[in-house]
Amino acid sequence: MVKIAVMVSGGGTNLQALIDAERRGELKNGELSAVISSNADAYALKRANRAFIPSYVLRRHDFGSTEAYGQALAEMLEQLDIGLVVLAGFMTVLSSDFCRRFEGRIMNIHPSLIPSFCGPGFYGLHVHEAALAKGVKVTGATVHFVSEVVDGGAIILQKAVAVQQDDTPEVLQKRVMQEAEWKLLPHAVSLFCEGRLQIEGERVKIL
Ligand code: GAR
Repeated sequence: MVKIAVMVSGGGTNLQALIDAERRGELKNGELSAVISSNADAYALKRANRAFIPSYVLRRHDFGSTEAYGQALAEMLEQLDIGLVVLAGFMTVLSSDFCRRFEGRIMNIHPSLIPSFCGPGFYGLHVHEAALAKGVKVTGATVHFVSEVVDGGAIILQKAVAVQQDDTPEVLQKRVMQEAEWKLLPHAVSLFCEGRLQIEGERVKIL
């Protein structure tokens, strides 16, 4: 069994999708073992408690630097014997050292079709605001491995979602979550835990 840690900062609907998938037996060879939040008030912590998953709070403000935060996080993950780190609405940028230490073992869900609407400043609702401002007719979600480049790691899975003419950022965000994120993330996690993701340079091959 691969022990999975889910990193959260807010509502945690992607965490909920993982909890529901595990309950349905859809996280093959994976076990949700820890939820780590950068925010003590995150609703995601309640979801973890309800599902009896041990949860921890590690706030960026309590550390002097991104490096010190990454170091503390790495120690915690290693102590818990975590094999896969899933960023699910985690809003703190991780240090380069941390990304290197866990290379190939961290994935992130992003609410657009990377390489559109991604990188520094593109998170949460801002991503959908930018997509609507640009007038794209199709958007979606991406699950990718995390590298030192923000939203720049190898792409694992993507799913397209249609933009409707009268969408607001909130309406579009909800549709992208329902139609893409909540399906893609459990699928990608399960593939990883089954050992079916092979990284070949920039690309991920699904075995
Ligand atoms: C999700 O839409 C996720 O893709 C996005 O934040 C939201 C978190 O929602 N992540 C990013 O923008 C990362 N760059 P949730 O807490 O309900 O899962």
